[in-house]
Amino acid sequence: MTVPRHVAIIMDGNGRWASRRGLPRSAGHKAGLKPVRTCIELCRRLGIPYLTLFAFSSENWSRPVTEVGFLMNLFIETIERELDDLAQQSVEVRFIGDRAALGAPIVERIVAAEARAVPDAQLRLTIAIAYGGRWDIVQAVRGLATDVAEGHLAADEISEAELAKRLGLGSLPDPDLFIRTGGEKRISNFLLWNLAYSELWFSDRLWPEFSADDFAEAVADFSGRERRFGGVPSVERT
Ligand code: FPP
Repeated sequence: MTVPRHVAIIMDGNGRWASRRGLPRSAGHKAGLKPVRTCIELCRRLGIPYLTLFAFSSENWSRPVTEVGFLMNLFIETIERELDDLAQQSVEVRFIGDRAALGAPIVERIVAAEARAVPDAQLRLTIAIAYGGRWDIVQAVRGLATDVAEGHLAADEISEAELAKRLGLGSLPDPDLFIRTGGEKRISNFLLWNLAYSELWFSDRLWPEFSADDFAEAVADFSGRERRFGGVPSVERT
């Protein structure tokens, strides 16, 4: 079976999962940690080396202040609690997103988590917090403009590769498989540049219910697809 090298996930449906049970939305976010662990475990088992999760978007700041506060605390506690375990499981953690928009307590945890070396990590987990695909492209373009202004790069040396390496994911391969739970069929300003040729998989499952079987189903479907990247099918190539 061809497994994807890189899976990117929009974990949607926490709020609805909680509301349907008469619980506060925060209970849905808490319950959303279990499928995160499940997906990490499955990536390791299937030999998928890159997993990227959309935890908090640039647009999520418009949520009620109590929900935003709850999510930030959940991220802080989770990073602190899980980091040792993740390192022991050979998982290296990185973050992408606008750190200037985040408070000092979470930035401190992010910096500490990224300082943790995991030699020969089996899985590189990237967590997108305060992330937006348009923001990412803009900050990469700003980097290009600065390098041109400072004479490190000529304007005609600007290329897809030069732009891509300044994006949050940097040198990581583009996601092969994009998964969104919660029933909506949108990219919602996730990795706009990097998802250009990703295979898309939408699940009606609400994120807290997303199981190992659901993840395996998405991977199995991916393995049956022919990826053409704008070319023609291999059997018609003559
Ligand atoms: C979207 O569901 C989910 C979020 C905005 C938060 C996702 C965060 C977690 C699952 C916690 C994971 C933590 C780490 C550290 C990776 P929603 O609230 O938009 O659901 P709704 O569409 O039903 O309202």
